[in-house]
Amino acid sequence: MTTQRKTIIAGNWKMNKTPKEARELASAIVASVKGKSDLPETVLCPPFTAIHDAIETTKGSPLKVGAQHMDYRDEGAFTGEISPVMLVAMGVTHVIIGHSERRQFFGETNATVNLRLKAALKHKLIPIVCVGETLDEREEGLTDAVVRRQVAAALLDIDEAQTGTLVIAYEPVWAIGTGKTCEAAEANRVAILIRGTVNEFYSRAESGKKPPKSSAGERIPVLYGGSVKPSNVDEQLALPDIDGSLVGGASLKADEFLPIIEAGKKRVKVSGAKLAPSGA
Ligand code: PGA
Repeated sequence: MTTQRKTIIAGNWKMNKTPKEARELASAIVASVKGKSDLPETVLCPPFTAIHDAIETTKGSPLKVGAQHMDYRDEGAFTGEISPVMLVAMGVTHVIIGHSERRQFFGETNATVNLRLKAALKHKLIPIVCVGETLDEREEGLTDAVVRRQVAAALLDIDEAQTGTLVIAYEPVWAIGTGKTCEAAEANRVAILIRGTVNEFYSRAESGKKPPKSSAGERIPVLYGGSVKPSNVDEQLALPDIDGSLVGGASLKADEFLPIIEAGKKRVKVSGAKLAPSGA
């Protein structure tokens, strides 16, 4: 059996780039991917104020534009928020949900991640749900428990049939913006744990019924994020359960982001050939 999962390279620009700077960066990326085949699904996630410019600049190219966050309600008296309806109307295709910076600084919880995931699926935005442990949690040996809890909480009350577009990103908090990368083999191990958690979640028995056997975890792309750079991405994407990268700092400069897209291209070529799935 070979993996059919898509390869995804997403750039999370965080609170960086004015509209003009966004156009410059997006144009440089467009120029270099134009006419190329075997590209990974490549997503630029600018701040809300540069989404329009990114969409205009990438029109007619294979690049997609995602949001870094959104409200889970369609409209209403929620000062400062942006709704999924607004994002879809602009041409946004993807949305990052539950990034650790949202969890750390803006009160995001497992419960609000679940609400946002439901809203993204309802509005046909491709959700990239972020999970990952803090340094303290890792040192206390809680990595697996934290990741499993975050994944299961995100999926609460969501039918397996609705998860067709779901993407999960494993982003250990201690590796984000720190230059400390998680060892590729360890990231791959956690990616397998994430798949196993999804399978278990959808294999629970309803009272009085025979438990279904789910393999949803095998088809969900799992990305790694946390100090991804041109120098470490090849090693990560060579592993069978890491389907792509969620890139922060290195997505802000074309000369750093383009080699990461190239690494994604290599994975697109070999996936289905050399990359055997874990079978976990
Ligand atoms: P980093 O950020 O690549 O700068 O570590 C990753 C992220 O926060 O998604």
